Amino acid sequence: MEKRNERQVILFPLPLQGCINPMLQLAKILYSRGFSITIIHTRFNAPKSSDHPLFTFLQIPDGLSESQTQSRDVLLQLTLLNNNCENPFRECLAKLIKPSSDSGTEERKISCLIDDSGWVFTQSVAKSFNLPRFVLCAYKFSFFLGHLLVPQIRCEGFLPVPDSEAEDLVPAFPPLRKKDLARIMGTSAQSKPLDSYLQKILEATKPASGLIVMSCEELDQDSLAESKSNKVFSIPIFPIGPFHIHDVPVSSSSLLEPDQSCIPWLDKHETRSVIYVSLGSIASLNESDFLEIACGLRNTNQSFLWVVRPGSVHGRDWIESLPSGFMESLEGKGKIVKWAPQLDVLAHRATGGFLTHNGWNSTLESICEGVPMICLPFVWDQYVNARYISEVWRVGIHLEGRIERREIERAVIRLMVESEGEEIRDRIKVLRDEVRRSVKQGGSASRSLDELVDRISIFIEPLVPT
Ligand code: UDX
Repeated sequence: MEKRNERQVILFPLPLQGCINPMLQLAKILYSRGFSITIIHTRFNAPKSSDHPLFTFLQIPDGLSESQTQSRDVLLQLTLLNNNCENPFRECLAKLIKPSSDSGTEERKISCLIDDSGWVFTQSVAKSFNLPRFVLCAYKFSFFLGHLLVPQIRCEGFLPVPDSEAEDLVPAFPPLRKKDLARIMGTSAQSKPLDSYLQKILEATKPASGLIVMSCEELDQDSLAESKSNKVFSIPIFPIGPFHIHDVPVSSSSLLEPDQSCIPWLDKHETRSVIYVSLGSIASLNESDFLEIACGLRNTNQSFLWVVRPGSVHGRDWIESLPSGFMESLEGKGKIVKWAPQLDVLAHRATGGFLTHNGWNSTLESICEGVPMICLPFVWDQYVNARYISEVWRVGIHLEGRIERREIERAVIRLMVESEGEEIRDRIKVLRDEVRRSVKQGGSASRSLDELVDRISIFIEPLVPT
């Protein structure tokens, strides 16, 4: 651990689990490089400050009503948050830059603001204070580049996709097929708000001081090279690797309490014998899909550990729609929890496969532990990640959206029992080693981190608010 310097970094995560985790991991990395850390956060999905006693947490009001916090419409939530948070955020930042004389707060030099690409007002706020702003891209970089082209692709008349073309690749957005892109782009009713939001992300990212990417050359070489040659962004890009494998102390940033009984349960199982099932923090299922997954898992006769978040089965509190006697029929081979300590589960020797929605965090966490995947993407970047897993790196099996008990059973058997699974496992171990090497001294991600630290260590005098 380096000596604390007087430099303070302000971080502002989007209030979604998949965005809070990378931001807090980045905070730990920067803290270990000597920066003081201040986290500005919304009331909605506020991170647990007690899990991070070395950081300062400042909450701002977000104006979301109770029903808006419960909404399944993430785009609507992000739009409301961006509309509501600008003034509170500006006031909070002004106080940090110029602590009031009676607050007793010691004045610290602020190096920069780091916030999620999904905040679209922060660039102009930071600029008004002459504060450098770095954008965190917590997606695979190829998705980040590609998704900003969605409004243009739509203008060119991409939709609808005829069945005969569904499997064709989209040249502007490899390795997506037209059918994947159609799912990412959503229905025409969603197109206007989505495209306008994406346009704002692009406009707010271009003038930033830099882009911090949760990926590395080993995973995103083509898109990183493309962005340099096309100059989509003329700002510095720092692909500093998967954040959670940097050598810093681990602490949880889970909004839900992880069920620690998963680990002793896994301890009782043979090496690589358990399939872990989790669809992240947002995806939800209708009841019939939930039951198809349940029956598919049971029919494999393999052991499984399944995360079912409360409320993630439509119209149900939790798992009460399972047929009576379902759990007993498994004879101890199945365990269902509300939230798992996922990093520990993936690192456990008993975990042999991961049925995942392919959120970028889950995808990276699985790669870093060498756990092969069964891909069941639901929305957004998950389609890109699933294509890389199944087609480019060939370290998983794509379910192609078929939530059908026989398909699930077949995919699990292929991965866990058949020789195909062994080949996939061998390939993911190679990928794991390459990615892990990138964050070690001299590796591509480690060098990018050094460059980032140098960059944010340069102090630029802010404009003191009046
Ligand atoms: C969201 C988007 O849905 C995803 O597409 C995008 O890439 C990131 O933001 P989410 O759906 O929550 O994320 O998925 P993911 O990116 O995988 O993040 C989930 C995080 O929660 C992971 O860090 C995972 O370790 C953690 N988790 C998940 C747990 O700690 N316990 C669990 O039981 C499930």
